[in-house]
Formats: sequence, C-alpha cells, structure tokens
Amino acid sequence: MPKPKAVLFDLDGVIVDTAKFHFQAWKELANELGFTFTEADNERLKGVSRMDSLNILLEIGQIELSELEKKHLATQKNKRYIELISTMDEKEILPGVQYFLNALKKGKIFFALGSASKNAPRILRAIGLYDQFDVIIDGNAVTKAKPSPEVFLLGARQLSVDTQDCVVFEDAQSGIEAGKRAGMKVVGVGDKNVLHGADDYIVSMKEMSIERMNSLFF
Ligand code: G6P
Ligand code: MG
Repeated sequence: MPKPKAVLFDLDGVIVDTAKFHFQAWKELANELGFTFTEADNERLKGVSRMDSLNILLEIGQIELSELEKKHLATQKNKRYIELISTMDEKEILPGVQYFLNALKKGKIFFALGSASKNAPRILRAIGLYDQFDVIIDGNAVTKAKPSPEVFLLGARQLSVDTQDCVVFEDAQSGIEAGKRAGMKVVGVGDKNVLHGADDYIVSMKEMSIERMNSLFF
C-alpha cells in the first residue's frame, strides 16, 4: 500500500498567519499612494509573489509606474513588513502545526517548506521552526511563482522523494494548483467552498493526522 514519504508545507496561512502583516504593509503603501486597499483586495495577494502583489495593488489603485519606481515601492513595503514581523515568536505558530510536525518526525516522514516568500527563513527562525525542516525552498530559490509547480518539485528533489509520494498543504488557490501540477496529493487549508481542486480540505492543522493523510493514498 503506498504511503506518503514526504510533506511540503506552504508557510503563510498554513504554518503562521502572516497575511495580517502583509495586509498592514500593503494598506499603508496604498494610503500613501492615495487609495484604499481592503481586506477583500488582500485575498487576491495570497500565495502571490511580492512583485506580482504590487502589480495587483497598483491595478486596484489604477496607478502606472516604471519598473524602477515599482522596485522602490516593493522594497519600501518589504521594509515595513519586516518591521511588523519582527515581533513574531513561537506563539504565532498556528494551532495543531507543532503537534503534526512531531507526528511526522515520529513516523519518519520528511518535511519541507515550499513558500513563495523571500522572508521565509527569517520567519521560521523567529518562530523557532527553522531547524525542524529537512529542506527549505523559499522565494529566493524559485524562478517561477505558484501556480508553477517549481517550488514543490524542487522540494521533492532535494528530499530525494518521488512526487507521487508527496503531500502538499496549501491555503492559496495558486498553491493548490501548483501542488496538483507537481503530481502530488494536496490538502487545502481553509474554506472548502472557496478553495477547489484539492484532495482533502481542513480548516486548521488541528484536524490533520497521519491516518487522515495516509487515507489520501488509498
Ligand atoms: C506568500 C504570501 C504572499 C506574499 C508572498 C511573497 O506567498 O502568501 O502574500 O506576497 O509570500 O512574500 P515576500 O515575503 O517575499 O514578500
Ligand atoms: Mg499561503
């Protein structure tokens, strides 16, 4: 009977809730540029790379800028974001995550991070999880953003595990698509009426167990 040999976790929205910090930093930038950026707008940025996020934000504000100006704004947003996440510690780890990681370790199932965020290592260190991951693939390691499967394929390769033996945990639609395109089982984290295309859905990692994950393979 086939069983999962490795798990790949998205970071933002799965391990920690950094969406609130991204939202704050983007909102401040939009205000400075003279328009309002809402929480509903922020939903469109989940799983989307920094530059693509900025492009969506500017589209909402109907602002056209040069590549150089965009680069400056992306840097400005990131500085503010780093300020906001500097307060993070292990209390920010979402419920059920550490318990599930412990179960994986006990079951000798490898796990990697597969995140679009260039700040992923900083965040993992802040919450004390950096050393627990066997492999970390972040936004600095990939050339193509999700829904490209690149981030997860790279993770599987570095873990030396076949893609069909992997399970991905993702809260963003683009990430679910990336996992499926990588040929992996995917668990959507969030509202199953909003997300689609995953093999299973949970609202919180508290609902996940090794048994439930194994059942994806039968
Ligand atoms: C994750 C988040 C996105 C964020 C992206 C890049 O995918 O869900 O909201 O834009 O990472 O993050 P970064 O930390 O590199 O700006
Ligand atoms: Mg995410």
